[in-house]
Amino acid sequence: MIQINKLEKFFGQNEVLKNISFEVKQGEFLIVLGSSGAGKSTLLRCINGLVTPTSGEVLINDLKVNKRNIQRIRKKVGFIFQGFNVIGNLSVLHNVLIGRLAYKSPVNIFFSKEERKMAEEAIEIVGLKDKVNTRVDQLSGGQKQRVGIARVLVQNPEIILADEPVSSLDPVIGREILELLREINQQRRTTIICNLHQLEYAKTFGQRIVGVRNGTVQYDGIAKNIKDMDLLNIYGEKFLTNKIENNKLQTV
Ligand SMILES: Nc1ncnc2c1ncn2[C@@H]1O[C@H](COP(=O)(O)OP(=O)(O)O)[C@@H](O)[C@H]1O
Ligand SMILES: [Mg+2]
Repeated sequence: MIQINKLEKFFGQNEVLKNISFEVKQGEFLIVLGSSGAGKSTLLRCINGLVTPTSGEVLINDLKVNKRNIQRIRKKVGFIFQGFNVIGNLSVLHNVLIGRLAYKSPVNIFFSKEERKMAEEAIEIVGLKDKVNTRVDQLSGGQKQRVGIARVLVQNPEIILADEPVSSLDPVIGREILELLREINQQRRTTIICNLHQLEYAKTFGQRIVGVRNGTVQYDGIAKNIKDMDLLNIYGEKFLTNKIENNKLQTV
């Protein structure tokens, strides 16, 4: 469903992605794991066309991700942000309706009754039914991320990209958000690629992990098969220091 072929990205002289290739199948829940600066966000942004690769390509159902196809890509691919990207002075409902904009022309931004109903359904799925008309700036971080997820659901995406969706949240709430994403993946068969830097979450929630370090793939396999050696390759010395200090595998 998603093919990443020899993807390279330079920012100036800085080579941030180095010849990355892998495929993602329909319905997978894939975790991209790596330290801060490894290239996870850049990789995810190449998949929905927010960043243009220097060379190589991304294909979604055989359609190349580029400027010309961007409208079609954006309908299929939803994006969830670490910082939620919600609009504080708008209600939950209006924030979620923004997810329908990919389906609008610039001259028609009116929302139909059906779209309103879709938004209400999405809000119910993420557990905010009693907050439909609440201003988003009155919500907690976890609730804001639920709004971000509902906004993606009304897009009816085939793919959800989540860029460290729980990094701004405490661990209990973070877990709830990842559980919600897992439910969406299982119930709707939506393909999910989720960037994380926390190993514990990756092991709990990932079926498959792609481990990235300095813009290269260091591990690509089943989450539960990941070994200390692979983690050393992904995290470098930080992994060792951390393991020695804590004598267990924790967030690196
Ligand atoms: N727009 C940009 N311009 C210049 N450098 C960037 C830009 N985005 C990311 N980088 C650099 O690319 C590297 C990888 O960043 P990023 O993809 O955000 O990693 P991660 O998400 O794993 O923390 C970092 O060195 C970062 O400074
Ligand atoms: Mg990032």
